[in-house]
Amino acid sequence: MTQTEAARSNAGKVIWVTGASSGLGRSLALALAAQGHQVIASARNEESLLSLEKHSPSIIALPCDITDENSLQSVQSKISSHFKGLDQVILNAGNCEYLEFPDPDWAAIRRVMEVNYFGTINCLQIALPLLRQSTIARPHIVAIASQVTNAPFAKAEAYGASKAALQYFFNSLRIDLAPENIDVSVVNPGFVDTPLTRKNDFDMPFLMNVDDAAQRIIKQISSRPRSYSFPKRLQALLLTSRLMPGIWQKMVSREISRVAPKTQTSQDIEQ
Ligand SMILES: NC(=O)c1ccc[n+]([C@@H]2O[C@H](COP(=O)([O-])OP(=O)(O)OC[C@H]3O[C@@H](n4cnc5c(N)ncnc54)[C@H](OP(=O)(O)O)[C@@H]3O)[C@@H](O)[C@H]2O)c1
Repeated sequence: MTQTEAARSNAGKVIWVTGASSGLGRSLALALAAQGHQVIASARNEESLLSLEKHSPSIIALPCDITDENSLQSVQSKISSHFKGLDQVILNAGNCEYLEFPDPDWAAIRRVMEVNYFGTINCLQIALPLLRQSTIARPHIVAIASQVTNAPFAKAEAYGASKAALQYFFNSLRIDLAPENIDVSVVNPGFVDTPLTRKNDFDMPFLMNVDDAAQRIIKQISSRPRSYSFPKRLQALLLTSRLMPGIWQKMVSREISRVAPKTQTSQDIEQ
């Protein structure tokens, strides 16, 4: 796409942002509306979405649970009744649950997958027909994955696997939608200060402010990259760790044992 084409297809778009009730999605919705786009904001927390509507007349709140296909069908009908189609979708809604060994909650793996992977695909399924009706030259799908997939993190088995699945899915989808001139970008943020990461009890290198992160995403996706990972310092650190997996494992284990004292065994108690 030439710069002129990119500028034209980036003005005044109809954009659906999922997971817009807090964190990155909320900042993305507000920033996109401030740029003059028409934003459809979705999540389960209706009150928070309605507060977005109060911030900007360019935001329409359409609450839904992305794991519930009926609730998404209703979002699809409402988008169709308001607009001719969708120009862009930012598939951002997500959840993180950590596994606590030695006795993890195995059902958490399914819950995380249900939201991050299947929920995102549910949204894609209802967005795709609307993107096909877009009046801009190249509609755009943006999937928010994560840099977690660049290296193994303790307790992140469920979350990391769900994001790796998303990356593979959307990288393949890009090839299949290319003949229809629909672009697909995968965004991999590092640590961003949001309700999701505020639960973390470990040091988060290069933690970013949420509004700064949203601005970086908006700027970068305007040129429709295949993928965008940021901050680059974290990406370099994580990719380097792949060359030294043993040292990385020791570093991560040390960090975990520093923040979470080893669970006492009956033997420890006796000593
Ligand atoms: N923060 C980071 O460091 C970081 C790093 C890499 C990637 N990410 C990704 O960025 C995305 C946004 O995360 P965040 O950090 O901004 O976290 P957040 O503040 O917790 O936001 C998550 C959003 O997803 C929505 N959501 C969760 N489950 C949902 C469901 N079943 N149906 C509909 N909406 C649902 C939540 O809304 P409701 O609860 O109202 O439904 C909320 O709006 C996620 O995909 C996350 O994995 C975050």
